[in-house]
Amino acid sequence: MTTLLANPRDTLFQPVAGVMARQDWDRLYADDIEAILRLKREKNAVILAHNYQTPEIFHCVSDIRGDSLALAREACDLDADIIVMAGVHFMAETAKLLNPAKKVLIPDAHAGCSLAEGITADNVRALRAAWPGVPVVTYVNSTAAVKAETDICCTSGNAKKVVESLGVPRVIMIPDEFLARNIEAETGIEMITWPAHCEVHERFTPAEIRQYRRIHPGVVVIAHPECAPDVVAEADFSGSTAQMIDWVAQRKPEKVLLVTECSMSDNLSLLYPDTRFVRPCNLCPHMKRITLAGIRRSLETLQTEVTIPVEFQAPARRAVERMLAV
Ligand code: 13P
Ligand code: SF4
Repeated sequence: MTTLLANPRDTLFQPVAGVMARQDWDRLYADDIEAILRLKREKNAVILAHNYQTPEIFHCVSDIRGDSLALAREACDLDADIIVMAGVHFMAETAKLLNPAKKVLIPDAHAGCSLAEGITADNVRALRAAWPGVPVVTYVNSTAAVKAETDICCTSGNAKKVVESLGVPRVIMIPDEFLARNIEAETGIEMITWPAHCEVHERFTPAEIRQYRRIHPGVVVIAHPECAPDVVAEADFSGSTAQMIDWVAQRKPEKVLLVTECSMSDNLSLLYPDTRFVRPCNLCPHMKRITLAGIRRSLETLQTEVTIPVEFQAPARRAVERMLAV
């Protein structure tokens, strides 16, 4: 009797079978996936992937997946020598702040973020001078230099809790003006803000959401809080990328519109095949700089290593750790 051995590639392909053709996966991704899995074992490396990564990264090679908060939390407990951040630069910096002894790699050092680039440490000092005594809450979508000027960080997943934990009637919340305004509406705490926006989420409009509702009757709309307040007002729920995923997992809507970066819908459609995802395709050009080929190269060459100037390390770490303690 002959036994047919399963092709290991069949198992590797399985998680993404719902969103791509097998011959494309074989041609474009399979070699890199096999090489990455081998390199991870050889070098004791882990891959952290943000929810906006494409399915072949998110489902085929990552070890830990999540929103910014989950990635920051998980980064604290890793038993690996090397951390590869499949995400943008500020996420890799946060992982490095929390793991100073580990090698943290980012496959493309130019994977930035319009929010992180929208404010400088000088801007924060000027805000503090203009509003003496008002605490500064900084969204993690910021550079280590800006975090170093900060009392406490927050993510979209814990912003309300962090702001309320301060017990004050007014805070300086930077750099995302829309997140600050959305949290102001939820908490009643006055926000001094900064005019930086996410270039992906600022593109959504209330008229567009209303049009989707007309074209797809019964669709449930969930929006990321980096959207403008008038867009969030059109949604049935608003939360971080992980909170959006939890919402879909628990409510199992028949039809859903995720008002956020569009790889989220691809990744979730594989996990929740009974839900239909209406997909507005707004891509984050920074997240999309991370590719399987880039991750493989990063593990082979151990480039690009993330380093943080020594003067920012302790104050920036303190702001992130204060957030994690809330
Ligand atoms: P989350 O923390 O909700 O994953 O958001 C990060 C981000 O960059 C959204 O644009
Ligand atoms: Fe930055 Fe927006 Fe891209 Fe998130 S989606 S990384 S906030 S530019």
